[in-house]
Amino acid sequence: PESNPLLDPVLGWYAEHARDLPWRAPGASPWSILVSEIMLQQTPVVRVLPIWTEWMERWPTPAALAKEPPGEAVRHWGRLGYPRRALNLHACARAITERHGGEVPSDHATLLALPGVGEYTAAAVASFAFGGRHAVLDTNVRRVLARAVRGEEYPPKATTPPERRLAESLLPGPDEAPVWAVAVMELGALVCTARAPRCADCPVSALCAWRLAGKPPYDGPARRG
Ligand code: ADE
Repeated sequence: PESNPLLDPVLGWYAEHARDLPWRAPGASPWSILVSEIMLQQTPVVRVLPIWTEWMERWPTPAALAKEPPGEAVRHWGRLGYPRRALNLHACARAITERHGGEVPSDHATLLALPGVGEYTAAAVASFAFGGRHAVLDTNVRRVLARAVRGEEYPPKATTPPERRLAESLLPGPDEAPVWAVAVMELGALVCTARAPRCADCPVSALCAWRLAGKPPYDGPARRG
């Protein structure tokens, strides 16, 4: 891999400042990680935590959820919003039970074929649950790379090929790729926030292209976030 000047500072920061989230615990099952990633797609961590915990107690395996009618998944979705995700998780549970012997697949392409699993979720599960080496491009990661490397306040609205190439060029070796992915995501969530980023607390502020350029305001097309 090419060298990545952000790697050591971001990993050092993460070791000190990471939130202690249950789906990041050493024994977290691939199923629990898949459920967390689908819940976190459109809902903040604090709202996901109680529902994820209840789901994991009620349905600790794909087979446990697959036995239920789909409406049960929706009934226990609480107020997470976008309840189609509950139906997708139920369909995932059935697909995993029927096609994959009850085990969440580890391979990116196989994950991508599951209901409701897109590029981001497939990369996140392959990386966080199985230690795979993938660019995990959520909005937080894309914002950090836009600022620190590209010198722009915000990333484009949807992921572009240059962003993907950049993220792939920054991937460390296989031992560090998963922790790099979660660490840069956490930096975007806690420090390099969409509004009012906390540059004084940022481990890469000395290298940040956007900060070094004087934090020019975004001047592209109208965008959210
Ligand atoms: N840890 C792993 N994936 C995450 C996500 N999508 N949001 C917050 N924390 C995470």
